[in-house]
Amino acid sequence: MAADRQSAGIEYDLSRRSFVAASAAVSLVTTGAVAASPKPLFPKSFLWGAATAGHQVEGNNVASDIWLLEQVKPTLFKEPSGDACDSLHRWSEDLDLIRSMGLNCYRFSVEWSRIEPAEGQVSTAELDHYKRVIAGCHDRGLTPVVTYNHFTSPRWFAAKGGWENADAPDLFARYCERVTREFGSGIGFAVTFNEPNLRVGGNWSPNPMPAELPGMVAAMLGAAARACGSDRFSLLNVGNYTVSQPNVLKGHRLARAAIKSECPALPVGLSLALADDQAVGHSRLLDQKRREMYQAFLDAAKEDDFIGVQTYSRSLIGPHGALPPPRGAELTQVGDEFYPSALEGSVAYAHKATGRPVLITENGIAAQDDRQRVRFIPAALDSVKKAVVRGVPILGYIHWSLLDNFEWMSGYGPKFGLVAVDRTTFKRSPKPSARVYAEAVAQLSAG
Ligand code: BGC
Repeated sequence: MAADRQSAGIEYDLSRRSFVAASAAVSLVTTGAVAASPKPLFPKSFLWGAATAGHQVEGNNVASDIWLLEQVKPTLFKEPSGDACDSLHRWSEDLDLIRSMGLNCYRFSVEWSRIEPAEGQVSTAELDHYKRVIAGCHDRGLTPVVTYNHFTSPRWFAAKGGWENADAPDLFARYCERVTREFGSGIGFAVTFNEPNLRVGGNWSPNPMPAELPGMVAAMLGAAARACGSDRFSLLNVGNYTVSQPNVLKGHRLARAAIKSECPALPVGLSLALADDQAVGHSRLLDQKRREMYQAFLDAAKEDDFIGVQTYSRSLIGPHGALPPPRGAELTQVGDEFYPSALEGSVAYAHKATGRPVLITENGIAAQDDRQRVRFIPAALDSVKKAVVRGVPILGYIHWSLLDNFEWMSGYGPKFGLVAVDRTTFKRSPKPSARVYAEAVAQLSAG
């Protein structure tokens, strides 16, 4: 393995990035200097959580854009989301599970298409549902971290051109304002967008995009547009990014202002898909990737209260582009490199680029065999600890995901959950990794 790394030119980079920079931190930990410190590394206010997203767990999110894409022919979705985990009805069980792990935070998303299923028509009953979830969090001592847009939007919005439509920022801000007016006072942290930078990420994937993919996407979107009686159908991270990105950025700014107008003290940010990017050799492309994939959003985040970071692995950037995982590297169920120590580099970068404190809004692993997650979690938390020791201000760590859920186009195949969900009865069964996470959190928060 070490030889493989060396031959791929990675050894240099690892020693520069992780080993040398973190060596001071590691020695502090091993000499016990940290234990003697009067300030705990993880104060009581540090958020320890688990995350879900509405469309992936609630079930029957029938007025949303992605629900429609799952139904049309042709579709790129392996299977429809259907009942998902039925969290719409079983949310209190979910909160109990989080509480039973000794966590103090739940990240979930509100579904715009439930709240505004037709343009301008707001559902009081659905708003009440989310109010109950928020109240349920507080009853159990959980801080709600609420995402206002986790990929899905109403299908009427997509049929108007989605984020390519110049009205999109105002429509989104109007929804954010309403949500915040209804229950913003119960929210601990507001995340406007989940990974609005994912589209550009595709350009930096080591796997070449199949030549037929754009045609397949266009056929699926065309079918959805026709189903809506429209000539267009576009959604976040799909469509013409040059047109949509400025609208998303404006949407974020307007949403932040709308949220603050209702709840001035509520911390607002967005979350980015952000790998631990490592140059192999002296790759100038690393800077290019960062410019293309993160810069506009990191600049926007300078005005925010925090930056949400979502890291699953590292990304190796060679002189000609992204590289696959090193030969012989352990892989996750979805083919990423098993690399739990990615957080130290990603959070340090996000903080340096924005000057904002970091909230780790997602980190986790797709693992069919839970034993891999059991090994992942302590190593990932160790990486968080190293970043804290290095002085990166971190507000919390939220594991993706609480439940095995609907993994978008891949359907129910990839298993990201700490808790398994029976696809027929929806019975929740915590995996050994849930206990491992709970024990690690108990230990770290005890100082
Ligand atoms: C998304 C989640 C997704 C997870 C695992 C993140 O990109 O926010 O919705 O399930 O990664 O792929």
